Amino acid sequence: MSAFDTIVHLIYLACATAFVIGLHLMNAPSTARRGNQVSAAGMGVAILVTLAVLIEDGRINAYAAWALGLGTAAGAAAGLVAARVVRMTAMPQLVSLFNAVGGGAAALIALGERPASTQAEVTGVLDVLIGALTFSGSLIASGKLAGRVPGRPIVVPYGRFVWAGLAAVAAAMAVLVVGFDGGTAALVGAAVAALVAGVLLTLPIGGADMPVVISLLNACTGTAVAMAGFVLESTPLIIAGALVGAAGAILTKLMADAMNRPISAIIAGGYGTGDAIAVEAGAGSAAVREITADDAAIQLAYAGRVVIVPGYGLAAAQAQHEVVALAQALTAHGVEVSYAIHPVAGRMPGHMNVLLAEANAPYEQLQDLEESNPAFPRTDVALVIGANDVTNPAARRAGNPVSGMPILDVDLARSVIVIKRSLGHGYAGIDNELYADPRTAMLFADAKKGLNALLTGVSAYAK
Ligand code: TAP
Repeated sequence: MSAFDTIVHLIYLACATAFVIGLHLMNAPSTARRGNQVSAAGMGVAILVTLAVLIEDGRINAYAAWALGLGTAAGAAAGLVAARVVRMTAMPQLVSLFNAVGGGAAALIALGERPASTQAEVTGVLDVLIGALTFSGSLIASGKLAGRVPGRPIVVPYGRFVWAGLAAVAAAMAVLVVGFDGGTAALVGAAVAALVAGVLLTLPIGGADMPVVISLLNACTGTAVAMAGFVLESTPLIIAGALVGAAGAILTKLMADAMNRPISAIIAGGYGTGDAIAVEAGAGSAAVREITADDAAIQLAYAGRVVIVPGYGLAAAQAQHEVVALAQALTAHGVEVSYAIHPVAGRMPGHMNVLLAEANAPYEQLQDLEESNPAFPRTDVALVIGANDVTNPAARRAGNPVSGMPILDVDLARSVIVIKRSLGHGYAGIDNELYADPRTAMLFADAKKGLNALLTGVSAYAK
């Protein structure tokens, strides 16, 4: 091995270490931003070194250099602009779109390479299958999150037979590529089958189950990238892909546990149809109690313990700074305050943690579902802000889209105040029985305006 090769391998090792350290730092909200920067720096260096290797090996001509340069510049500019201008509420669909791009890029690598060995052929086929499935599946997921594709489960007629047909086509194409030098045409056939499979996988996922499929697609992107790494014999790509794949797989398990249902059952679809109409008729027609901001502020200011339950509406209203300001005002007046964070609150894994970290909420006040639930019976006020499905007691009954999902037991608190604009549904599309509970009072307002009104009231009435 030449001195140049040794240096390259050492730098790749450093890059891989940066990925692992970055991932570790993402474990805690306080270090997550640094973790992102460390991983991104590792990837930046890996790209530059790969470029140097290509030049040193003479594998790059003027045309390729231009194509690489322009492609990198255009991709980086598009990513930078998209990430900077995107509204926080559109972040989940953007992340899904990035996921699609990752899977699609990995699949294109295998389509464009001439494999040098049987191992490269096998990983190439896997790369195309997983990458293409991730591409189309993530596009549908992004459409569902953006509201451009209906969020309810869309059950494809004779889905199981279609799946079996697609699996047979994919297997036949794989055999053609590996066993009979089938080449690009067979790979394209496999890609088309996988693209259709991605659509079929995502369309029937409905209601509250999207978090699981999003994490699963994320794991698939990582796996496809690792396979592309084998095709290109690129160690950093294999390591980065394996890390994303493993992290995505763990997240998928965590999300499925959070929903309390097997991953296989979610993938098979069918949740989200249930007795949604019966739930709607039940709670929708029941009377709810309204409260003014002044009365709610008095209740909060005189409480001993308040638990804040943030949900998607808080993100939609961009009210994270207001909620932290209210929590600070309450704490300053001797009220014990904590935040109860449901694992699937919002529209992307960790959504609420990211929001609250941005507003500098003290980390020791952030509690997960297991920590929060035992404390609700000794809580004076559960203040629910733009959260709906994650508090719906209907989850404790069978036969509806949120059945079996562990919820935040806010209805066990001594009183509940809900800030939202109307009796409108959450992502799962059903009414929330919590709103008709005699202990619940509704403060109908946009989260930001409602929280500002509460802050004014608390400052005036605080003990
Ligand atoms: P949701 O159940 O989606 O409810 C959000 C509520 O926020 C709505 O009922 C809406 O009611 C209210 N809202 C919207 N804009 C508002 C504003 N400006 N001010 C005040 N309220 C506002 O939210 P959740 O409880 O956080 O549950 C999350 C749901 O999304 C779950 O079903 C989960 O499975 C699903 N999901 C999660 C993810 C991830 S990874 N977290 C991904 C996809 C789907 P009004 O219109 O009446 O105001």
